[in-house]
Amino acid sequence: MIVAIGKNNEIGKDNKLLWHLPNDLKFFKEITINKIVIMGRKTFESLPGKLPKRKQLIITNNKNYVCDAKVCHTIESVLEYITKTSEECFIIGGASIYQEFLPYAKYLYITKVDDIKASDAFFPKINEDDYHIILLGKNEDNGIKYKHYKYVRKNPRK
Ligand SMILES: NC(=O)c1ccc[n+]([C@@H]2O[C@H](COP(=O)([O-])OP(=O)(O)OC[C@H]3O[C@@H](n4cnc5c(N)ncnc54)[C@H](OP(=O)(O)O)[C@@H]3O)[C@@H](O)[C@H]2O)c1
Repeated sequence: MIVAIGKNNEIGKDNKLLWHLPNDLKFFKEITINKIVIMGRKTFESLPGKLPKRKQLIITNNKNYVCDAKVCHTIESVLEYITKTSEECFIIGGASIYQEFLPYAKYLYITKVDDIKASDAFFPKINEDDYHIILLGKNEDNGIKYKHYKYVRKNPRK
């Protein structure tokens, strides 16, 4: 998983991101480039365009959903896809998808933004004891400070 969160685990409002952090977007690109990115229909529709050099998988209940990406309709079918592919997959949001896939994620790349914003979408509360936590670096954009962490699950599911 990869996510940027505020101090209250907030991640979005009105189907938009809360911050414009160019250096974090660069980090997101470095981590996900040439990988498979998996997202909910709402996050997909919030993107300005297709993410270049990444295969995209969209989850929706809508059986008639048509878009320029692979579409799945259940968590089980996404998990089957992840298990079968030899490529690395990233869950890239939003709130509902993070919640549903958190138990399966081996690594969490979490950008912790030193800010609080009004929000209607949140990253789930995680049990920090379940992870080894590595600080990857500190960053700043437009006066907003943030840190990149990698959470490695101690006992990942097979
Ligand atoms: N800060 C960050 O790093 C970050 C990253 C990504 C997104 N976000 C933010 O997160 C917010 C969006 O989150 P969200 O929770 O509202 O939307 P979402 O998770 O992006 O998408 C939700 C949609 O995904 C589909 N879905 C979810 N679970 C499903 C399941 N089990 N089976 C089939 N379809 C399923 C449904 O689509 P249908 O309605 O079509 O059935 C559902 O309405 C936005 O504000 C966005 O900017 C933040």
